[in-house]
This record gives sequence, structure tokens and C-alpha cells, in this order.
Amino acid sequence: MLCLGIESSCDDTGLALLDDGGLIDSSLASQTEAHAIFGGVVPELASREHGRHVAPLFDALLERNGLCPQAIDVVAVARGPGLLGSLLAGIAFAKGLSLALRRPLIGVNHLHAHLLAAGLGRKLVFPAIGLVASGGHTDLYRLDSPQGIERLGRTLDDAAGEAFDKVGSACGLAYPAGRRIDELAQAGDWRAQELPVPFVKNENLDFSFSGIKTTAMRKAEELGCAQGANAAALPDLCAALNKAVAEALRVKAERALDQNPDARAFYFAGGVAANRMMRSGLLAMARRRGIEMLVPEPQFCKDNGAMIAHAGHLLARAGFRHGLDLEAIPRGRRIPFDAARVAAN
Ligand code: KG4
Ligand code: ZN
Repeated sequence: MLCLGIESSCDDTGLALLDDGGLIDSSLASQTEAHAIFGGVVPELASREHGRHVAPLFDALLERNGLCPQAIDVVAVARGPGLLGSLLAGIAFAKGLSLALRRPLIGVNHLHAHLLAAGLGRKLVFPAIGLVASGGHTDLYRLDSPQGIERLGRTLDDAAGEAFDKVGSACGLAYPAGRRIDELAQAGDWRAQELPVPFVKNENLDFSFSGIKTTAMRKAEELGCAQGANAAALPDLCAALNKAVAEALRVKAERALDQNPDARAFYFAGGVAANRMMRSGLLAMARRRGIEMLVPEPQFCKDNGAMIAHAGHLLARAGFRHGLDLEAIPRGRRIPFDAARVAAN
């Protein structure tokens, strides 16, 4: 079964082809530069850029692999959460293909796809607890199967990546700043600018990063980080932010595992899962608890088409399909599992 995956939920247009043997090829058009001058993603610009990129990416992907459109068996597309205009650009293209090629369509939950991306190259393990940390989300899940994924907790305000990006901007770093903060933190001492671990003195599985974001932004201003003053302070502040966010994620992940003792694995996904301190801290936790840790390869942590193709392939193989009435679901609205089930392949 050859599955085309289309990702356009935010500011990356990603396409990929995957068959039963694994990933064949993928392509990505990043809009980072187009948005960088605005210090964040501009929704109107993002949807126009998706519209501009998606068809040429599709043509180039097929041509590179000597395939014609008719070779595609299933069209998978990210249906949310995300920016509505961005999602619609990918979904409209996917629906057009599905209709023209008479191939089934499957809408994929973008956040579930982040988690399942760990299965690109290895076998998935269920039941499991999963954490998605990105620029827009920080959510904890229980995973029983590719179609059986239930949210246990979420951020009540900012996402972890958003906190990194906003603090980065207060430090004069280019958007998105997560990766640069991670690099700078390697040379810093978190004790020198210590920040409190946010929102762990409670009983729930939710997160809150707006407080630590504001505290760290104020510190950055006081220290004159954006002006290059106090050169040693910037890596220390980056290390402190890294440490406090990593610890908040670990505490809540550990709590979710305590509440789900049958979990055999822990998944960590989303753009923030590229962070070295967080990866190693959560890996140590999983080892200590004697469960497997599943993290997508770094190139599949950030938004990409391969994770959509992979999740779509798993759902299509289990017999799930959407009709042309598939709806885009923007951030903030619950995503229904409204696929129809036909016979499994
Ligand atoms: O999943 P993603 O590519 O897009 C969203 O769906 O948001 O995640 C992007 C986020 C950005 O906030 C970026 O700053 C953050 O992931 N990020 C990192 C690292 N690499 C990317 N945050 C911390 N450490 C990193 N190494
Ligand atoms: Zn994402």
C-alpha cells in the first residue's frame, strides 16, 4: 500500500511517500525565513505559502521516484490541530487528489502523528504513555493502538516550545529559538540563574509554562542578554530554562506512568523532543522504570510529511477512511475520531 502524507498544519509544507516496507522519500518546504522577521508565524502568510508550495513539491517527489500519481493507494493529510488556513491548503489538495485518483482519503491527527513517528524505523509498543512537546502543544497521552490514543493532560497556557521561542526572542535569538537555546545551554550552568520548576506542586497531569516564560524573559532583560551584555549569563539562563522545563516534563510524565502501571513504553515527540537534556532526562527515567523509550529520529521530531504518511498508513491498514467531507479542526477544538471503518487490509 503506497501512502502519500501531506503536512501543512503550521509553517512547514511536508510531503512523503511510504509503502509497506517503510519510508520511500519525503520533501519539506520550510517557511521559517518568511516568518522570522515577524517573530512568529503569520497565519495568512502561512496558508498562502502552503498553497504555493504543495503542488510543486508533489510533482518533484513523484518525479524523483519515477512514480505516476496513479501509483498512490491512499492519501493521508493532517486535519488538525493547527492554523485553519494552513490546514485547509493541505486538505484541499488532498481532497482534489483523492477525487481525481479515486483513492481513499484519511485525515490524521497531527499530534498523534508526532507520537507515532517513533514507528518510522522501529516497532511501536502498546500500551504506552506519550508526551508531545512542540511550539503549539505540550500534551500527555495514553496510547493503546494507532487509533486508540487518549489525552490525559495538556498545557493550560503556553506550550514548552513557545516558552523557548519567547525567551529566545527576549535574549535576541532568532525565531524559533529552541534549538539555539539547547546549544547555548551546553556551555551554561543552570545553578547560576536557577528558575523554579513550573506547575508541579499539584496532583494533575497538566502543564503551565507562561510563568517561567515571563520570569526568564524578565531575567534576560535585567541581564541585558539581547544587547550582548554579561556574556556568560546567556548560556546560564538557557541552561536554567532547559533544566526547569525538562524537570516539569519529567515529573508529569512520571506521574502519568504511575497512574498507568500497564504502560510498557514512553514516547517523546514534537519539535522540543530534539532537546538533548530532555531526551537524556526522560531516557534515564524510562530506564529506571524498566520500560522502553521511543523517540522519533531528530528529522521526524519537527513537523514533516513522513509522520502523516506513517500514521495515515497505520489507520488505512486498520481499515479507516474519511469522506470528502473531512473537516479541518483548528487549534483549541477537540478532534473527533470520525473515520469510517471498512474491512482492514
Ligand atoms: O513540532 P514543531 O516543529 O512545530 C510545531 O508543531 O510547533 O516544534 C517547533 C518547536 C519550536 O518552538 C522550537 O523552538 C522547538 O520546537 N524546538 C526546540 C528544539 N528544537 C526545536 N526546543 C527545545 N530544544 C530543541 N533542541
Ligand atoms: Zn507539530
